[in-house]
Amino acid sequence: MNLVLMGLPGAGKGTQAERIVENYEIPHISTGDMFRAAIKEGTQLGLKAKSYMDKGELVPDEVTIGIVRERLSKADCQNGFLLDGFPRTVAQAEALEQMLEELDRKIDYVINIDVDQSILMERLTGRRICKDCGATYHLVFNPPAKEGVCDKCGGELYQRADDNSETVANRLEVNVKQSKPLLDFYETKGYLRNINGDQDINDVFEDIRALLGGVSE
Ligand code: AP5
Ligand code: ZN
Repeated sequence: MNLVLMGLPGAGKGTQAERIVENYEIPHISTGDMFRAAIKEGTQLGLKAKSYMDKGELVPDEVTIGIVRERLSKADCQNGFLLDGFPRTVAQAEALEQMLEELDRKIDYVINIDVDQSILMERLTGRRICKDCGATYHLVFNPPAKEGVCDKCGGELYQRADDNSETVANRLEVNVKQSKPLLDFYETKGYLRNINGDQDINDVFEDIRALLGGVSE
């Protein structure tokens, strides 16, 4: 299963990706996570990405395409993958088509988590993430049993550097502008499936499961 997960910042890509990869046993490839890991390690890539991410801008296409190309060539992608947050521009989408053609592969679905933009500021500023396992929570919509502590592994929860209201506002503006041409690109190809992201987290996943089929609870 070769999947692409799309949606504006805060639409619930990461939240649903956790569930999809667990149920369908495919690797989760998040460009945002890859950049954050590089920043943590202090690599050249991390230094470069940080300057864009701190402002809520997109990392340049050639950098982003390069890391995805490398990642998709790894052995664990043989039986499928879930791309999360890539592609985000038409240039990235065209590059992905080319990469997959070289690998003799094809996208099965582009799942677009569709939400009203007005709810995203609250979702993002209230998000908390586990330092150890990366699980995502929300102070109001998906709180952990014990404040500040991960339910899954007991790790400490933190707030992402780009989840302050100023950076979120810019991320939303940048991504809204990019998303329409990208959705049109995939609609034309016939890959696009819209999922209503403005419902309970479990109900969003039920809709995704109804689309993908095959796995029971
Ligand atoms: P990235 O890490 O991809 O961030 P993003 O696209 O801004 O998306 P988020 O991770 O913020 O949101 P999400 O949709 O995963 O939401 P989540 O599930 O956590 O990118 C970060 C940066 O990296 C970019 O700004 C850019 O600089 C760079 N970058 C990355 N990819 C790039 C690319 N391809 N090209 C160029 N640059 C790139 O949910 C959010 C919150 O809401 C959580 O608290 C969650 O608990 C809650 N929630 C989720 N679903 C629901 C629900 N149904 N109801 C209520 N609450 C919910
Ligand atoms: Zn954890």
